[in-house]
Amino acid sequence: MDSEKIHIFDTTLRDGEQVPGCKLNKKEKIEVALSLEALGVDIIEAGFPISSPGDFESVTELSKVIRNATVCGLSRAVEKDIKVAAEALALAKRPRIHTGIGTSDSHINFKFKATRGEILERAAAAVKYAKSFVEDIEFYAEDAGRTDNEFLARVCEAVIAEGATVLNIPDTTGYCLPEEYAAKINYLRENVKGIHKAILSTHCHNDLGMATANSIAGVQFGARQIECTINGVGERAGNTALEEVVMILNQRFKGKYHTGINTKLLNFTSKLVSERMSMPVQPNKAIVGDNAFAHSSGIHQDGVIKERTTYEIMDPLDVGVDHSSIVLTARSGRAAIAYRSKLIGYDLTKNELDAAYDHFLILADTLKQVGDNDLEHLLKSKIFDFAK
Ligand code: KIV
Ligand code: ZN
Repeated sequence: MDSEKIHIFDTTLRDGEQVPGCKLNKKEKIEVALSLEALGVDIIEAGFPISSPGDFESVTELSKVIRNATVCGLSRAVEKDIKVAAEALALAKRPRIHTGIGTSDSHINFKFKATRGEILERAAAAVKYAKSFVEDIEFYAEDAGRTDNEFLARVCEAVIAEGATVLNIPDTTGYCLPEEYAAKINYLRENVKGIHKAILSTHCHNDLGMATANSIAGVQFGARQIECTINGVGERAGNTALEEVVMILNQRFKGKYHTGINTKLLNFTSKLVSERMSMPVQPNKAIVGDNAFAHSSGIHQDGVIKERTTYEIMDPLDVGVDHSSIVLTARSGRAAIAYRSKLIGYDLTKNELDAAYDHFLILADTLKQVGDNDLEHLLKSKIFDFAK
């Protein structure tokens, strides 16, 4: 069977940017958007045009500069929102309006104080109206994760009948378990009339740390678009991390699914977004954290020095990290000392290494991490000067 394309919908500049402290200025947004395009994302969600003049301008500016990716603007299922989104997208080569409404009983009862029937009508009317501006309409059923599947299927059917091209099934509150989310996508695939006319999309939040697992489970049961952000930035505990889902598809589903992402740019893009948003990446973050390819225990270091694949399931070069690092700590063994000494120009004999090792352990206990300068100083003062 041919490998199927999974579309990557990046919402770093919309769901990611709505986090307090992550606001970008116009120049920074253009810089990030161009990097996302170079990375190979299929859709860039550029903002929520009605929310502020700044967001309107961002969507307008990105519509001018982005030429390959689809540029998407968010709206509620409200005519004014949709009209403003269409205006902001006027210059986009590939415009998409993303409109939608809450479909869970919690949203219907408490947020809208409406009935299911009214929500169904508002959803269909919004898509019909949006369709009068652009061809490509994505519909989101907010809080789909906690929406009754039978009602969700009726909403999906109604918006497809009005021309929705993509159905976004957000787990807005990060509530679902992977098997529940997978079952929801499967249910929609099997029960929505006309489902073949639209792409099912995942949009998972990370409140229980399940966003990546849920997105992949969704793909396994029929979703063909993943909504995600660089470094997983986003509301509360964040969104699905782009770098994680892309590398899972690459490493574990080769031949079955593919994306258009140039994975060698992942590390660069992660650092750019982290710096521009002033949002540090945790060192142990999968794929892009500083420690993602660092080895510090003696057993692991010995293995990696002999053969990288003993403790690494992907090549750091594939994500734009130029080497695995062997970090020297009090847990390091002789193999690591010999390796790092050689890198800084000291090819130690067995006796020299034995002598260096005892001194090294004392130093490592005080320093926590031994850098190249510390190592060189130790070798010079304790081994070579002593031997002279
Ligand atoms: O999490 C969510 O439900 C959203 C929608 C607005 C798409 O971000
Ligand atoms: Zn969201």
